[in-house]
Amino acid sequence: MSDPLVYLNGSLTPLSEAKIPVLDRGFIFGDGIYEVIPVYQRKMFRSDQHLARLFRSLTAIGITNPHSKEEWLSLIDQVMTAHEADDQMVYIQVTRGVAKRAHAFPKEATPTVFIMTNPIVLPSATAREQGVACVSMEDKRWLRCEIKSISLLGNVLAAENAAEHGVTESIQFRDGYLTEASSSNVWIVKNGVMAGPPKDNLILEGIRYGLIQELCAAQNIPLEARRITKEEVFAADEVMLSSATKEILAVVRIDEQTIGKGKPGPIYQQLFQAYQQAKAT
Ligand code: PDD
Repeated sequence: MSDPLVYLNGSLTPLSEAKIPVLDRGFIFGDGIYEVIPVYQRKMFRSDQHLARLFRSLTAIGITNPHSKEEWLSLIDQVMTAHEADDQMVYIQVTRGVAKRAHAFPKEATPTVFIMTNPIVLPSATAREQGVACVSMEDKRWLRCEIKSISLLGNVLAAENAAEHGVTESIQFRDGYLTEASSSNVWIVKNGVMAGPPKDNLILEGIRYGLIQELCAAQNIPLEARRITKEEVFAADEVMLSSATKEILAVVRIDEQTIGKGKPGPIYQQLFQAYQQAKAT
């Protein structure tokens, strides 16, 4: 579908015709938030959690939520239904709206609401079988990474760094401790114990973060949320990424160093299977 229908401020319109004014604060200041929801077989996966995070993001930056939960679900459903693909990625963007250029919040502005969907692009069979490579880099982003902000320059530069190295992600470290990758959360396994950085202002709490907690509990895999040093990441038996598009993905090399045995490990396999089951239910 080359020109899918998208939702913009009250109506469905072909993507090619969807336009916003140049004074939209999303364009001028990156003043907005977004959400990415995977859809499998035309059903949103973890929609409650994604909408709860959308609402948290809006509250965090002081935008009044323009819709009730039921309205959001109905708007997303309209965009989703109009698309031909069964498995999709729904993108929701909300900005503070259009106003005369001035940094502080405008007195009156109506949030801009944009919803589009694309066919989902999941990791290739090769990436699944062999795992992927990443590079490490210093986390140079701001200190409110828990907000799913559309101001993504730090993440864009980290993703570009990975692309230039021909790898999947940049894994970021702040002051020697693991934070997250350009657009995914990062996990390690050592001696059968899974660990991820704590949910704080230094990372985005992925919807898969909570899901991995649930899957680990159900599979009796011990899981710790704690600060993780760079040395621990390189010495881990397994390293994994999680995000809506990557689901759970094994990392087998960082920089020039092999991780664990250099192939997707047993905890990854277990969690990947559990994830596929969760999707199917
Ligand atoms: N990215 N951390 C960052 C910085 C992210 O951008 C993402 C998701 C995650 C994982 O969150 P979740 O499990 O909810 O997908 C962690 C999405 C996919 C994106 O920006 O396209």
